[in-house]
Amino acid sequence: MQLETIVTEIDECIMLITLNRHKTLNALNQKMAEEIISSLREADKNEEVGCIIITGSEKAFAAGADIKEMRENSFSEMYQLDWFAQWDGISQIRKPIIAVVSGYALGGGCELALMCDFILASKTAKFGQPEISLGIMPGIGGSQRLSRIIGKSKAMEMCLTGRLMDADEAEKTGIVARIFTQETLLDEAKEIAKKIASFSKPAVQMAKESINRSYETSLSEGLRFERRLFHAMFSTADQKEGMSAFIEKREANFTNK
Ligand code: CAA
Repeated sequence: MQLETIVTEIDECIMLITLNRHKTLNALNQKMAEEIISSLREADKNEEVGCIIITGSEKAFAAGADIKEMRENSFSEMYQLDWFAQWDGISQIRKPIIAVVSGYALGGGCELALMCDFILASKTAKFGQPEISLGIMPGIGGSQRLSRIIGKSKAMEMCLTGRLMDADEAEKTGIVARIFTQETLLDEAKEIAKKIASFSKPAVQMAKESINRSYETSLSEGLRFERRLFHAMFSTADQKEGMSAFIEKREANFTNK
C-alpha cells in the first residue's frame, strides 16, 4: 500500500511508524487511522519485528482528530460510519507498541498514545483532552483510559477543563513511563524497543496480554489467567533456554518457540 499519512521503516527488529501530516500537527484523519492500523497488522505478522514504535514530530505527536475532516458531519453519518471504531484495531495487536511523544499529544493524539502499551516522552510533551473547548468530548477512549490510569479526579479535571498536562506531571500520574531529553528520546526508545525484541516473543506477548487482561476482568480471574499463561510457558523451548542460560551463566538464545 502506498502510504500518504505516515512513514514506516523497519530498523533491525523494530517497526518505526512516524506520523507524517506535520502541517496539521499530525491531525488524525480517517486515512491515517487506516494506514496506522494496517501497518500495525503488517508488523504483527512480520517475524522479524519484535517491537513497534509510533512517533510524531518534535512539535506534535498528534494534535487530535482532524477537526476539519469531521466538522460538517451529521450525527447519522458519525453513527452509521461508526466514526473512530477502526481505532479498536490497535487493541488486537499482539506485539508491544511504544508511543514516543514530543510536543502536543492532544485529544485523539493523547488517546492514540494511551492505546499504545507504554509512553516514552520528551520534556516538551504536553498531554490533554481539549475537546470540551470544541463543544464535544473525547471519542477514542480518553474518558475511559485516562480515568483508569490517573484516577477519576484528574481525568475529570482534564476532560472538563481541557487543561494540558506537562511531561513531569504525566510521569508522576502514570501516563508516561519515562522522560528523556528531546535530543535523546528516539534513540533511547529504540534501545528499549530492541531490548524488548531481544526476549522470547511468546513470553513478551503473553506478558502484554496478561497486563491488558487486568483492565478487563476481576482480580481473581486475572490472577487465574496469569497463572495459566505462566504454566503454558513451560511448554516453550524459550523457557528451557532462558532458565538454562541463567544457570549456565551465559546469554540466552531465544528461538521464539
Ligand atoms: N485538526 C485539524 N487541524 C489541526 C488540528 C486538528 N486537531 N490541530 C492543529 N491543526 C492545524 C491548524 O488548523 C493549523 O492549520 P493551518 O495552518 O491551515 O491554519 C496547523 O495545524 C497548525 O496549528 P496552529 O496554527 O493552531 O498551531 P499553534 O502552534 O498555534 O497551536 C495547538 C498548536 C495548541 C496544538 C493548536 O493547533 C490546537 O489547539 N489544536 C487543536 C487541538 C484540539 O482541539 N484537539 C482535539 C481535536 S478533537 C478530537 O481529538 C476528538 C477525539 O476525541 C478523537
